[in-house]
Formats: sequence, structure tokens, C-alpha cells
Amino acid sequence: MSIAGHDPRSPGSGMPAFLRACRGERVRPAPVWMMRQAGRYLPEYRKLRARHHFLDLCKTPELAAEVTLQPVRRFSVDAAILFSDILIPLEPMGVGLRFEPGPILERPIRTEQAIASLRPLDAEEPCGFVMEAIRMLRRELGVPLIGFCGAPFTLAAYLAEGGGRAKASFDSIVRMMYERPELAERLLAILSDAMAEYLGAQVRAGAQAAMIFDSWAGILGPEFYARFALPAVQRIIARLPAERGPVIYFVLGGAHLLEKIAESDADVIGIDWRTSLSGARMRLAGGRVTALQGNLDPRALYAPEETLRREVRRVLREGAGGGHVFNLGHGILPDTSLASAERLVDLVHTLSMEEEAS
Ligand code: CP3
Repeated sequence: MSIAGHDPRSPGSGMPAFLRACRGERVRPAPVWMMRQAGRYLPEYRKLRARHHFLDLCKTPELAAEVTLQPVRRFSVDAAILFSDILIPLEPMGVGLRFEPGPILERPIRTEQAIASLRPLDAEEPCGFVMEAIRMLRRELGVPLIGFCGAPFTLAAYLAEGGGRAKASFDSIVRMMYERPELAERLLAILSDAMAEYLGAQVRAGAQAAMIFDSWAGILGPEFYARFALPAVQRIIARLPAERGPVIYFVLGGAHLLEKIAESDADVIGIDWRTSLSGARMRLAGGRVTALQGNLDPRALYAPEETLRREVRRVLREGAGGGHVFNLGHGILPDTSLASAERLVDLVHTLSMEEEAS
């Protein structure tokens, strides 16, 4: 089957629009993809999911590649993100995992003994099924492929808690930071080493960009963030192979941390809907950040067309001061309509051109 998709949106330049925007170029039409674009709002995903457990989809290279391709066939998105989960590499580290649908870990990791029991990831090819899916995808995809991992703090939050219910407060990891800071640092260092191997292997397998998800770092104040979460991310980025593409770092609810996030050494910073892109850009200035990614509220996809159009225009305008990859401020919600998702992608492409002409 042919993959919908890719008219070369940047004639002559060779480099895809998404990668050029990540480097800080002003690209028109503006590139767009959606966090969680492969998932439950797609009928073809639900159909496959009815026959396979989520973890089996992740662990079978053919199926993970197929699900990655589903949104690329349907919409003119400018990038694909590997279908997997941030918790997948915890299993080979010795922590069994299941989804119901929130993640549940076989045992919490809170004590010195539990931390010592974690196994390092195989440096050769950690999670070979992920690398195989990436190699398959690179043969088929017409747009850049984003590999990803969880940031050490966010993974540590799930590990200390033993999973993550919808409204989890993740007190266990913060408690460890107060009670036994050296233990928290040890856990973060182990996760940092593992994720450097894991994300590095994805780059070597062919991922053209690498995204680090710090979904829970927003629960920290600036001091704990700077002391615990930030160095663990810097350590991953410093150890990625030289041939790596742009690194995108996303902290959900990280507005109060932006000045520290600027020191992460990532090229692109993901911003959620609670902060304006223009304000974020000012606060990140001076660091090495080349572009921003974001930040339409995923719930704007429930709005009528006129409202969605207005919101897309606003995000484009606020993002226009430098490199901008259009995205949602967090994952697309499972009950989003296909028509709305399709409309979003098309609006970003057409409205960003109008803006250029005016
Ligand atoms: O399209 C994509 O974005 C790629 C796939 C992807 C998934 N998870 C698939 C998934 C990515 C990049 C992730 C990252 C991830 N996983 C994060 C970071 C991003 C964020 O959302 O903040 C986090 C925190 C997780 C952990 C996780 N995985 C949770 C809390 C849940 C359950 C809640 C939920 O959304 O259902 C998952 C399950 C999960 N990961 C699903 C999918 C498609 C649903 C599984 C199903 O089909 O039942």
C-alpha cells in the first residue's frame, strides 16, 4: 500500500519541512503533527486493538510499524512518531508492566534494594523490537520519524508509585527526594543511563528526531526540577550519538520551569496550551533552543470549525517569531472526531500560507 503523504513541501531544499522548522527556519506551509496521533481516536487503530493487547502492538515490529503509519496515511502530517510507550523499556530493566488502560507496574521501586535490583539495558540493542520497527518504518515513510523515551524523572515517578492512575499525584518520588535524596539521585542516574542507550539505539536504527517526554516534571518546583530532573535529561542528550537529529523536550505543565528548561540542551522545546508560544520564546532566549513545538489545546478539536480556525490562527501567530512545529499542547483525546483532526492538519497548512501572503 502506498503511504499518503508526501508531497515535497519544501521544493528544492531537500530537507523535510519538520526538520527545517526544528532547526529554526521559518517554514511555510508550517509543519504539523499531533501528539498521540497513532491511537484510539482512529477506527483502524481500534480495529487492530480489538484483536491485540496494547503491549503486543508495541512489541510486534510489524504491528507497531502499521499503527505508526495509520495517521500518516489518513492525514498530511509532516512527521510520524513511533508507536510505543515510554514505559516499554522498564520491562527489560526488570519491572513487569501491564495497562488497564492506565499503566500498572508489577512492583514499586522505592527502596535501596529495589533500586539495586534494576537491570541496565543491553547496550547493543535494547528493546530490539523497537529498533526493528524503526528500520521497517524508514523503508516506508515519506516523512521524518520521531523516536522517543520518557524522561528519567517521569519514569521514576511511575516506578516509585508502582504505576499511574489518571489523577495520581506521584507523591512517592517527591517523598524520596526529601527523605533519601541520594536514593532519588541514584534512581535517576540509572534511568538516565538506560534512556541514553535506548534513545541512542533508536537514532542508530534510523529515528530522525528524538523526543523526551517529561509528563510529570511539572509537579516539581524550580529547585527540585533543577537539582533532580534537569541533570538527568542533560545526561541523556549529552550521550546521544553525533549523527542524531533534533532533540525535542516536552514538560507538561512546565511553564514555571521554562528558564531551567532552557538549560536542558534540547534543540526544540514542547509547550503546552497553558503558556503562549511568544511568551515562552522570550523566556527561553539566550539558550541553545532553536524552535518551539505546540501548543493548541487538544480540547479545541471539539470546537466548531470557526473556533478551531481562530485558535489555529492564534497559535500560528504566536509561534511565528522563530522555528515552530505546530502540535497539540498534549495528546489528542480518544473521542476526538476524525473530521476535526483532519481539519486541524489542513488548517495549519493553509492558514500558515495565507499569513505569508498578507
Ligand atoms: O502516537 C503517539 O504519540 C505514539 C505513541 C505513544 C503512546 N504513549 C501510545 C499509547 C507515546 C509517544 C506515548 C507516550 C507516553 N506514555 C507518555 C508521555 C506523553 C504523555 O501523554 O504525557 C506517558 C505519560 C505514557 C504512559 C501511558 N501510556 C499512560 C498514562 C497510558 C494510559 C492512559 C491512556 O492514554 O490511555 C498509556 C497507554 C497508551 N499509550 C495508549 C496509547 C495509544 C492507550 C493504549 C490502549 O490502546 O489501550
